[in-house]
Amino acid sequence: MTHFLDINKTPAAELRAIIDNARAMKDARAGRPKGTLDDDCPLAGHMVALIFEKPSTRTRVSFDVGVRQMGGQTMLLSGTDMQLGHGETIADTARVLSRYVDLIMMRTFEEDTLLEMAEYADVPVINGLTNRTHPCQIMADVMTFEEHRGPIKGKKVVWAGDGNNVCASMVQAAGRFGFDFTFTGPQILDPEAGFVGEARKAGVNVSLERDPFKAVEGADLVVADTWVSMHDSQSSRERRHNQLRPYQVNSALMEAANSDALFMHCLPAHRDEEATSEVMDGPNSVIFDEAENRLHAQKAIMRYCLGV
Ligand code: CP
Ligand code: NVA
Repeated sequence: MTHFLDINKTPAAELRAIIDNARAMKDARAGRPKGTLDDDCPLAGHMVALIFEKPSTRTRVSFDVGVRQMGGQTMLLSGTDMQLGHGETIADTARVLSRYVDLIMMRTFEEDTLLEMAEYADVPVINGLTNRTHPCQIMADVMTFEEHRGPIKGKKVVWAGDGNNVCASMVQAAGRFGFDFTFTGPQILDPEAGFVGEARKAGVNVSLERDPFKAVEGADLVVADTWVSMHDSQSSRERRHNQLRPYQVNSALMEAANSDALFMHCLPAHRDEEATSEVMDGPNSVIFDEAENRLHAQKAIMRYCLGV
């Protein structure tokens, strides 16, 4: 069973093959209307369940469109509408869904929910974001960087802000794809030490730098994300904003990075909080390419999981 649960659970060569395949698939249908089928329809006859226990725009739409372009069918399920939200166990849900569908994509809160789904499902399971990681996003980000700047190997990526779920997958990607990674943010919001240690073991430089201006020196890519994630309590909002304000990505910070440094944000953004509109809409921002590449990267991830 080939699940896609995390960047650090998928071998580097397979991650590379997924990105290369995503690129080829994107090129192959360039300029075609979005509702047309891919030539080879690799998911013909496949049924895919998309389960959301949290809100989503990009993940929901890109998975749905991606399956349809590949000739498969989708079923969108919201956690609260399922018996899952009313006491049925994850294990039973996994075994039941496996009798109806060929692939499950799940966005949930606790990572254990996703892992239990994968353990009991007889079909592949894809992580569409948990409180802890967001691997599909980072596959799209790596693809986007390489589209604009060539191989990411050996480059320097700087994450400014909260060491959250998206940041965790970026740290994992540093080890897998061989790029250097600097986190800049308050110590209390550092990415998990285990993820940092794992990336360092893979031979890349990973640093934690409290001064955002020092952090971005020599950066090829600067990344921001919301200061309050979906799983964070609203009561922590003011504290987080106070802690994170010095790490806003604005023009002054981007000017301290390499002159051709790209800017990324997985979106949704809170404009003029974690990043200014000037940066988000500026010449080095690739945020909408990133959003588009969710579609292409996930199509390649689904093919990898299904072996088609
Ligand atoms: N970046 C991302 O996963 O966006 P959604 O929450 O809209 O899916
Ligand atoms: N860190 C954000 C990412 C949203 C795509 C969250 O978890 O809310």
